[in-house]
Amino acid sequence: MPDAHADPHPKLRFHLLDDSGGLGYHLRALRYRRTLWAPFITQVAGWLSTWQAPTTHLVIVGPSAGYTIDAAFLQRFDRITILEPDPLARLILRRRFPDLRIEHGELDCLSGREGPQWLARLYPGASLLFANVLGQTPVLAADPRWADRLRTALQAHHWASWHDVLSATTPSLADIDRPLEPAADITALATRCWRWPTEVSDHDSFGLVGRQDGLALWHLSPAQWQIVEWGIHAPESGAA
Ligand SMILES: C[S@@+](CC[C@H](N)C(=O)[O-])C[C@H]1O[C@@H](n2cnc3c(N)ncnc32)[C@H](O)[C@@H]1O
Repeated sequence: MPDAHADPHPKLRFHLLDDSGGLGYHLRALRYRRTLWAPFITQVAGWLSTWQAPTTHLVIVGPSAGYTIDAAFLQRFDRITILEPDPLARLILRRRFPDLRIEHGELDCLSGREGPQWLARLYPGASLLFANVLGQTPVLAADPRWADRLRTALQAHHWASWHDVLSATTPSLADIDRPLEPAADITALATRCWRWPTEVSDHDSFGLVGRQDGLALWHLSPAQWQIVEWGIHAPESGAA
């Protein structure tokens, strides 16, 4: 466990321009949230509605402005902490959900090997939701053991994640309106969703939570398609 005195926790660095968020993401959300993204947002709402997170406090990592998160889900919690480095996203999120008690945290739990331990330590009684951020974090490719560290650090927490596992710039064969069948491995999934010679990017995040509770296609922009995985972890009884 990290020592709070010897090693202050890594802090989020504010940004407005980022590969996985920032201004470009807000503009896309503005443009496509009610059209291209609508089937995916419906599927995420279905995933969230089935997640039995039995705490009053929720921590969301990478919510952006909550474009793909529905109010009915958020209203289940008395207190919501967001870990989001984009100040514009924070502002819009508050405006979109004015009746919710939302606070900002400053931990960067995706930075370095001890980020997940800090997350567990700073928020011991909360449920944790990674909102489409783990498929884009460079730490997964940089440190092959990081996903193991995450699962180990969070084993006593209720936590869940939806994250992109594959992406391509040509249309997927998957159905946009319906969940995809479970996939045993990433190669089988890629083969099912695209035909050769399409170049498909692997985000190194398949099976990240330790189980697969859903798969969906997200048509992110006219020339961008992603396969997104949903997974839920519940601590063994007595551990939470
Ligand atoms: C693809 S967007 C998430 C989409 C969002 N969940 C939604 O509903 O529209 C990824 C988000 O992760 C945020 N992010 C990037 N690095 C992060 C970090 N180290 N910790 C928390 N969030 C981070 C970005 O600012 C961005 O808002």
